[in-house]
Amino acid sequence: MPRKLNVRKLEIGSGKRVFCRVDYNVPVRNGRVEDDTRIVASLPTLRLLAEKGARTVLASHLGRPKGKPSPEFSLKPVAEHLATLLGKPVVFVEDCVGEEAERRSRDLEPGSFLVVENLRFHKEEEANDAEFSKALARLGDAYVNDAFGTAHRAHASTAGVPGVLRPAAAGLLMEAEIEHLGRLLENPDSPFVAILGGAKVSDKIELIENLLPRVDLFLVGGAMAYTFLKAFAKPVGKSLVEEDRLALAKTLVQKARASGKDFLFPVDHVVISGGRDDAHRTTEGVDIVGDEAGVDIGPKTADQFSARVSQARTVLWNGPLGRFEVEAFSGGTRRVAEALATSPAVSVVGGGDTASAVKKFGLASRMTHVSTGGGASLEFLSGLPLPGVEALDDAP
Ligand code: 3PG
Repeated sequence: MPRKLNVRKLEIGSGKRVFCRVDYNVPVRNGRVEDDTRIVASLPTLRLLAEKGARTVLASHLGRPKGKPSPEFSLKPVAEHLATLLGKPVVFVEDCVGEEAERRSRDLEPGSFLVVENLRFHKEEEANDAEFSKALARLGDAYVNDAFGTAHRAHASTAGVPGVLRPAAAGLLMEAEIEHLGRLLENPDSPFVAILGGAKVSDKIELIENLLPRVDLFLVGGAMAYTFLKAFAKPVGKSLVEEDRLALAKTLVQKARASGKDFLFPVDHVVISGGRDDAHRTTEGVDIVGDEAGVDIGPKTADQFSARVSQARTVLWNGPLGRFEVEAFSGGTRRVAEALATSPAVSVVGGGDTASAVKKFGLASRMTHVSTGGGASLEFLSGLPLPGVEALDDAP
């Protein structure tokens, strides 16, 4: 990926307005922010802009309101939470385009912030509409994108605005994410172990193919393991299986083994019967029968995976190893997270559910990097271009 202009190098005369795309797509319940990780992660860029004397307009989406205003997806509680974190008032405007937003952006004091309402209250945002991009661009004299979590979307605020508002620079969070994730693709220390979990093999095929030349060992857990196990004729009962991916799963493993790499699969499981969470047992081996379905890796597997993680020098983790939200099925994900926390390896955790898991176990600060991007980190590591990054100015 070519190096991009960075906000540190952005020449912003005092009082210039900066349109800053952030990813404040955070969980909000009853008007309160429940997890502010993404907001906190944007603070270094915000503080730098304030030091430069910029008047900063912050724009984000929240949820998927389908192109219409909807109070449950309002960014107002996020603006209030941001004001608490910054320790100073933050102006909030109820529409992200139009006269009021423009006037309020011009009225801002140097070093202060304005949050505009959810971009996705306009269907033109996701359509990357040219007129909408121009309307957003009227809120700034320069553009900064710090929304790594949304960089895989070619929307107006990520791909359209930097086409009409220049200079267009990457924020500090965007820079850090690309550096940490990029190192896995460019220069990983060996042994490089990738822990893959989550529900579906189909979500991870491009990731596995892109990592194959770089990774020494794949450890596979979560529901996606059952597609692999069935492909090798193991009894998986009623576990989630993608029948149309069985052949591909087998081919991926054979390809890896032919090139001296390996895959390890669970050797024991926590299973439920009849779809009931209260009817569970730990298997001796891969002997999942009748109406049983796997919901976590078993203790022998957790031992094996943890041992491999402890010997690694680089570890990428994408996807939980079981239904960790349910305490009884969280053991495998927790044990491997603990092994990673104490491993000397460079540890990079993909965003989304895996980030939630390490946070839940209180281990996030013990990882080298926990990405704020779920889909974005997956696409980046799959070798796909990120439209929100591509649209920025190249570094001089
Ligand atoms: C995310 O949470 O992954 C990003 O904010 C992108 O959200 P989206 O999947 O609704 O585009």
